[in-house]
Amino acid sequence: MKPFLLISRSAEYETRLRSLLGSRLAVVPGEFLMLGPQTVVERVHHQPRIALLGPVLNFEETRGLVGELTQRYPEIGLIVVREQRTDLEDWVDDLPLHAVLSPHAADSTTTELLDRLSGWLVSNGRAVPEDFEEPPASEVGEVIAALVHGSPDAEPLNEADQVEAGSESQPFEWEFPPLESGVPSEAIGVVAPKGGQGKTTIAVNLATGLAEVAPNSVVLVDADLQFGDITAALNLTPERTIVDAVADSAQDELVLKTALTHHSDGFFVVASAPSPELGDAVASDALGHLIERLRETFRYVVVDTTPGLGDHTLAVVEHVTDAVFVSNMSVASLRAMRTEFQLLTTLGLMPSNRHFVLNQVDKMSGLTVKDSEALVGAPVDVAVPKSSAVLLASNRGIPLIHDDVRDPAARAVRSVVMRIAPEAYPKRTKIQRRWRSNGTE
Ligand SMILES: Nc1ncnc2c1ncn2[C@@H]1O[C@H](COP(=O)(O)OP(=O)(O)OP(=O)(O)O)[C@@H](O)[C@H]1O
Ligand SMILES: [Mg+2]
Repeated sequence: MKPFLLISRSAEYETRLRSLLGSRLAVVPGEFLMLGPQTVVERVHHQPRIALLGPVLNFEETRGLVGELTQRYPEIGLIVVREQRTDLEDWVDDLPLHAVLSPHAADSTTTELLDRLSGWLVSNGRAVPEDFEEPPASEVGEVIAALVHGSPDAEPLNEADQVEAGSESQPFEWEFPPLESGVPSEAIGVVAPKGGQGKTTIAVNLATGLAEVAPNSVVLVDADLQFGDITAALNLTPERTIVDAVADSAQDELVLKTALTHHSDGFFVVASAPSPELGDAVASDALGHLIERLRETFRYVVVDTTPGLGDHTLAVVEHVTDAVFVSNMSVASLRAMRTEFQLLTTLGLMPSNRHFVLNQVDKMSGLTVKDSEALVGAPVDVAVPKSSAVLLASNRGIPLIHDDVRDPAARAVRSVVMRIAPEAYPKRTKIQRRWRSNGTE
């Protein structure tokens, strides 16, 4: 009996869920979605009672799966595993989901949600306790019914009820719309304790990929205030810089926009300071304020940073929803990353969504990805191979994911983008057009 089904593109999440559910979990890798949702569901050999969809599935894929699963198993419980995003409301409005679970939720939270949804299915005659091979949680009923979308008796829970439904000591890490107010957009900081790890490379490509799903609603801030090099990496000649943007951030949107430089791939750049002294003079709280101000206007704010955890980078970390941590495979960098994780956690400054990118992965380094994980004490979310295409793209002033789409590093970097916006899946026409325009085919 395998009452739980996971369809996801994250091997790490699969491992975690397996450790929680053991043989009660069936898994179909999200890669099969290339063959369509029907093929994926055909690979399910036991009747699932609860399906977990995600992480890293886009809206269309999730909708296709929900359609197939509910047609075959009308009584199934559906959970989307996805970080809280501002578009989550649309997902829940359009899909008959029962809950949304953060991929970073603690194991206890995940188990609690699964227990409660199993209990709800049983209490509504959609399943029997034996389906789950253990008794359902005792306190099923009104609260979970109210949490379940589309339940005939469901009344939307107010915030106080939701808090009451969780354990007192631990806030809920699974979310149910409506979204918290005051989350106008997402801000993503790209950070590393040491220099030269690939922050700028990741930041530039994140902005490029996000601009595909939110054209002209992405801004890339070069907050490497002394030695920022984003405009060089993108072949841009800025007229104004972060020094002007910080000064203008107190003024209205139109004035602030004049401090930005537009890139033809559909995003804006806040260029680094014209000299290290001027960069150093930017106050860290003014940088934090600038990020907040940009979040009022842009869907995504991507921030490249100075190595280490100086005041400016701490200000960035405090004002972002996501942090992408980048390290190469040197023991010193990995140890420094471990310290950075511990420090941010101790200070309570770890952003809600953490992504750990292991960059320049190379068999010749003498370390494996597993060794790197052990040194950092955290799983690698994306491993980006070492590739000469990275330097080539940077020297050409073209973002890697558009310069050489088939390069393994470019594909890996795109999967970093897809962690923030799963809908940034490469479109075939785009791939072919870009490929040909490079003259390499
Ligand atoms: N996956 C990769 N394969 C090969 N070279 C890479 C890769 N990622 C980054 N590089 C190269 O490493 C160098 C440093 O990368 P990048 O400038 O992105 O790092 P950074 O963390 O922003 O550095 P800094 O701390 O100096 O700002 C660059 O020359 C870049 O081309
Ligand atoms: Mg850099």
